[in-house]
Amino acid sequence: MPFSLSRRHFIAGSVSAFSVGFTCPAWSNMQPTRLPIPELVDGTNGDPVDLQIRTGKRAFLPGLETSTLGISQDYLGPTLRTRRNSELNLSYTNSLSEGVAIHGHGLHVPGIVDGGPQLEIAPGDQWQPRLSILQPAATCWYHSHTHGKSGEQVYRGLAGMIIIDDEESDAIDLPSRYGVDDLPVIIQDRTFDAQGQFVYSLNEAGEDGWFGETVLINGAIAPLVAAVPAGKVRLRVLNGANARFYVLAFADNRTFFKIGSDGGLLAEPVPMTTMEMSPGERCEVVVDLSDGASAELLVFFEDEIDAEEEGLISGLQNIFSETNAPSTNWSLKLNVDQALVAHKAPLPDVLASIVRPEEAEIANVRDFVLDMEDGGDHGAHAGHAAMDMTINGAAMDMSVINERVKRGVWERWRVRSNQGAHPFHVHGCSFLIEQMEGSVTPPDQQGWKDTVVLDDDDWSEFVVRFDHPATEQHPYMYHCHILEHEDRGMMGQFTVT
Ligand code: C2O
Ligand code: CU
Ligand code: CU
Repeated sequence: MPFSLSRRHFIAGSVSAFSVGFTCPAWSNMQPTRLPIPELVDGTNGDPVDLQIRTGKRAFLPGLETSTLGISQDYLGPTLRTRRNSELNLSYTNSLSEGVAIHGHGLHVPGIVDGGPQLEIAPGDQWQPRLSILQPAATCWYHSHTHGKSGEQVYRGLAGMIIIDDEESDAIDLPSRYGVDDLPVIIQDRTFDAQGQFVYSLNEAGEDGWFGETVLINGAIAPLVAAVPAGKVRLRVLNGANARFYVLAFADNRTFFKIGSDGGLLAEPVPMTTMEMSPGERCEVVVDLSDGASAELLVFFEDEIDAEEEGLISGLQNIFSETNAPSTNWSLKLNVDQALVAHKAPLPDVLASIVRPEEAEIANVRDFVLDMEDGGDHGAHAGHAAMDMTINGAAMDMSVINERVKRGVWERWRVRSNQGAHPFHVHGCSFLIEQMEGSVTPPDQQGWKDTVVLDDDDWSEFVVRFDHPATEQHPYMYHCHILEHEDRGMMGQFTVT
């Protein structure tokens, strides 16, 4: 059986093909509801932040209560705010009847507080990681990393955002009032059954991972609407999906500016009209609503974009120029409220200084080959469960340290996919992409990253340095961030000493 895994090469602004096919579930005519803003918990002063990992119920669909998991709330967790050179003290209590590991994705912290699968919190137990935040301002997140269960637990709700500030970002005039002109936008897709319960099965997931049919933003079903001031508005977009790649654009095809990637601010704002996001990735963007008109952010499923039909530009223009163009239901409408104080300052030309290492500083090169192979004679029904998901020929084994890395020196990591599209993620660091999918790194991917995409039969490479220790008992992980690939073994462990 041939695979059809190849992620279409979708490069923002390129002329690769694009026409849109989106699904319309039964409840798609719902009126937009207000975008929920997760509670902001400021941990900057170092006081312990209590986080209860628990079950919950939420009426995503009218009249139906979905059983969920959440962190101090029914679904998802609060947004945690911290600062460079401060300590973030978390105190997790696991009140579930199963073990949970919670990882701080994007944090540069030692392996012992990184929250990988070795750090599972038993039912009823507590875990109190003290996180010394030494890295620049960034949008990170925290989510379940439980061995073999990350996909299911994230799907049911175990994820939240982390915002790191620092003096450099304070000094730049960017919109930064949380929930006013600085909005978290956590995008996920979920499938509900007739009773309103989440539908999820690792074993029945397709080879691309588990796709939901319905888009949630901050834990509410799209379309959504937010009231924002008539000025610059910053969106901290997190692709919190298990497996979907999203493509974002505004309904009027307006230009917006990407200002930050996974690990912090870009060197300079990058103008964009469409933006692809892989699972686990964060993009900070600024959109200008000074003219007082509302703007509608559309979320497309990249796998549903028909690559065969039209060029991207003309495809989008066709959609957008029809006077009564049907807009996708997966949208977030930003409605201007003139009563709100607006951020009017122009975007700075320079955001951050990003210094790449000299070639002579690269002390080591490592190769990683991601593969997914049909398990052989299991037959057509065996599907995903029968596939071997490996990195360098090995599936994740908690008792094996796959790589040993020296602390504080630069390395070049070359990552290749033999089969399928994968967002490769590394713990404990941010890295700088040198080549992406076998070609030149697009400007919006040239900042600090901790995820990098590679498609079928191509490769990406980046330079990376680890500044914190990770021991054999508490190693870091590298893995595919399609959570079903991770749970099926496309993951490895490494030490930093
Ligand atoms: Cu967001 Cu190891 O993951
Ligand atoms: Cu991570
Ligand atoms: Cu993968």
